[in-house]
Amino acid sequence: MSRTIRKQMIEALSRADGTFISGQALADVIGCSRTAIWKHIEDLRKSGVEIEAVRKKGYRLIKMPDVLIEGQILLGLETKTIGHKVVHFDSVESTQQIAHQLAVEGTPDGTVIIAEEQTGGRGRMARPWYSPKQKGIWMSLIVRPLLPLEKAPQFTLIAAIAVARAIEEVTKLDVKIKWPNDILHKGRKVTGILTEVQGEADQINYLVIGVGVNVNQTRTDFPDQLRDTATSLLIEKGELISRKKLVQSILKFFEKYYTLYLEKGFVPLKIIWESYADRIGEIVTARTINGDVVGIALGITDEGVLIIQDHMGKKHHIYSADIEFNHSNTNETLL
Ligand code: BTN
Repeated sequence: MSRTIRKQMIEALSRADGTFISGQALADVIGCSRTAIWKHIEDLRKSGVEIEAVRKKGYRLIKMPDVLIEGQILLGLETKTIGHKVVHFDSVESTQQIAHQLAVEGTPDGTVIIAEEQTGGRGRMARPWYSPKQKGIWMSLIVRPLLPLEKAPQFTLIAAIAVARAIEEVTKLDVKIKWPNDILHKGRKVTGILTEVQGEADQINYLVIGVGVNVNQTRTDFPDQLRDTATSLLIEKGELISRKKLVQSILKFFEKYYTLYLEKGFVPLKIIWESYADRIGEIVTARTINGDVVGIALGITDEGVLIIQDHMGKKHHIYSADIEFNHSNTNETLL
C-alpha cells in the first residue's frame, strides 16, 4: 500500500473517532473501489492496526499499534516541512547509515528515518548506542542548510534544545543539557545526539542528525554497565510516555529553532541553550584527543564552542570532548 493511501485510510478512520465508517465512504475519500478498500484494510491489519469490520456498518478503528509508522507520525504533526517524509523500519542496523544512503539519493529536506529497534546503533566517539525494540526513539533527520562546514556542530546544540523542549512539553520533567549534546534528568542520560556531516568545498552538502531518546525502558531493560548513568522517561516520570507525541514534539521544536537559526543566526539559540546548560560555572574535566583540560566551564561562544578556564586563568576553547564532572566519582560519559 502506498504511503499516501495508508495515511488517508488512517486519517479517515481516526476522524470517525471510534464510530463506524462505511466502505463506500472510505472508497470516496481514497478514490478507489470498495473491493480495493477491503484489501487496504487487510494491509493495515497486517501492519498492526486493529480494525473492526461489521457487515452493513463498515469499519471502525480499535487501536493503533505502538509503532512509529509514517501514518501515525503525520497525523497531528505541526510542521511545515520537517518530518513530512518518514521512512520507518521495524529493525535496522543504524538509522544513520540509512539516512546517509537516502540523502545521497536526494531524499527531500526534513526526511526522518526511524526504527523500532537498532541492532548496531552508533553513539559519539564510536561507542555503541543501545536501542531496544519499541522502548525508545531511534531516528535520524536529514537537513541541507546552505552553510559552511564549520557551522555543522551548532546543529547538535540546536537539536539538543529541540529535544529538551519536547521532553518538557510531553512529560513536564525538567531536563538539563550537558555540552554538547547529552540530555540529562537528575544527572542521568535520557538522550544522545550524533550529528554527521557530508560536505565539499567547505559547504555543507547535508547533515544527518541522529537522536536517541530512552523513553519506555524499565531499569532492568538497561544493561548493567549503563544502569548508573542512563535512565528513561518512564523511570523518571513513573508512567509510559507516548513515543509518537514525543517524536511530533521534537520535530515541531526542531523546525522552530532551525528556522530561528536560519533567520537570526546562532546567538538567540545560544541564550536558549544556556538556559538548559548543566554545570556551567562548575569545575569539569574535558577529555579531548589532545589530552585533558580541567577548569571552570564558563559557557559557550557565539559559535557553540565550550570555554573552560583553567587554574592559571587561561581560557581553552573546546571543540570536541567528553565532559566529566569532577565532584563525583561517577563516570558520566559511558553512553
Ligand atoms: C551519543 O553518543 O550520545 C549519541 C547517540 C545517538 C544515537 C542515535 S539513535 C538514532 C541514530 N542512529 C544511530 O545509530 N545513532 C543515532
